[in-house]
Amino acid sequence: MQDYTGIETPFYLYDMGLLERTLSAANESAAAHGYHLHYAIKANHEREILSRINAHGIGADCVSGGELSTALYAGFSPGTTVFAGVGKSDEEIVYALENNIYCLNCESVEELEVIAGLARQMGKVARVALRVNPGVDAHTHHHITTGLEENKFGIQPAQLQKALDICAASESIRFMGLHFHIGSQITGPGPFLALCDRVNQLWREFRIQEYGGRMLNLGGGLGINYADPDGDPVPDFESFFAIFAQNLRLPGAVSVHFELGRSLVGQCGTLITKVLYVKEGVNKTFVITDAGMTELLRPALYQAVHKIENLASKSPARCYDVVGPACESTDVFASQVSLPATTRGDLLAIRSAGAYGQSMSLRYNQRRQAQAYFNREEITSPENVSAELFLPDFV
Ligand code: LLP
Repeated sequence: MQDYTGIETPFYLYDMGLLERTLSAANESAAAHGYHLHYAIKANHEREILSRINAHGIGADCVSGGELSTALYAGFSPGTTVFAGVGKSDEEIVYALENNIYCLNCESVEELEVIAGLARQMGKVARVALRVNPGVDAHTHHHITTGLEENKFGIQPAQLQKALDICAASESIRFMGLHFHIGSQITGPGPFLALCDRVNQLWREFRIQEYGGRMLNLGGGLGINYADPDGDPVPDFESFFAIFAQNLRLPGAVSVHFELGRSLVGQCGTLITKVLYVKEGVNKTFVITDAGMTELLRPALYQAVHKIENLASKSPARCYDVVGPACESTDVFASQVSLPATTRGDLLAIRSAGAYGQSMSLRYNQRRQAQAYFNREEITSPENVSAELFLPDFV
């Protein structure tokens, strides 16, 4: 086992070799179809990770002024940066326009009017894509579904004509095309096939080409294998992009964009935590760790299951509830999970924590922000960590 002496737990550990392989695979598969990639910064905004992603020529996808400034600071070009979100403030819209980003993904008729007004005042022409809520079920956890009528995201098809008319009438708007995102952690082709059908239909029905639409952004959503991160470290980007290449039928030349988050960074991150106590309950035994929902919120918020490994023990397995220290009953990483017999001081690896782990961390209970460590070499599995770990200068 890697010697972590002197490294304060909990901490995030990033396998930069795996990140590199994942980025190369995504880029190669996208390039085969001429597709453009943007990275959804919300998944992980660590500077070291952003700089690797930027170095691969992938653009940025932001959902707040803060993410936009982080992206620009990390070196992403405004010309490949997109900005979505149902609640963009005037200040954020002005900031995006000042920086001449590639495209604002507009989520309502009301927002479109505000963008048009602000751009006019600034003497600018805002490049805008209309985010449409396609009514396609992503068949994922209901908290990470975004493309259904009851979700707050996007413009309902019933309002799309009105939005297109505003674009056509406004000299301060340049209509780029349509944007979609149906949900996250999608693990089968079905929802993406349904999205293709819906896009084909909407593109024709609303004569998007005649309004000058030449850009289609399909969002993110490709899932990762939480159950077997070592067996499946790099998502199958080839099959993912092939679905769109085979099923999109758009008239004329349209540039196709994706905003991938989880699939690019999910598997390269691990949360390392120390066991504080092994406590006997009435019917179960609790492993209490020094990381909790404050460092990885996904299990508490979505009942997400992350693979847990004991890095210190090879003793015969026992059944545990692995829980964090927060004063919340939902602060549970896993219920009734089998782990080698565990004792105080053991280090546990909570896998697949690269996406929506560190970026969703909380200061609740006045917790300290856990630090991120990176490995220059490939780690492949946390048990295998051999190369020197480093904290970048800017931490
Ligand atoms: N584009 C838009 C407009 C999005 O809303 C999202 C994610 C993405 C792209 C990136 O999706 P991805 O490729 O990562 O699936 N915190 C949740 C996930 C929330 C996703 C929000 N939107 C989780 O931990 O599962």
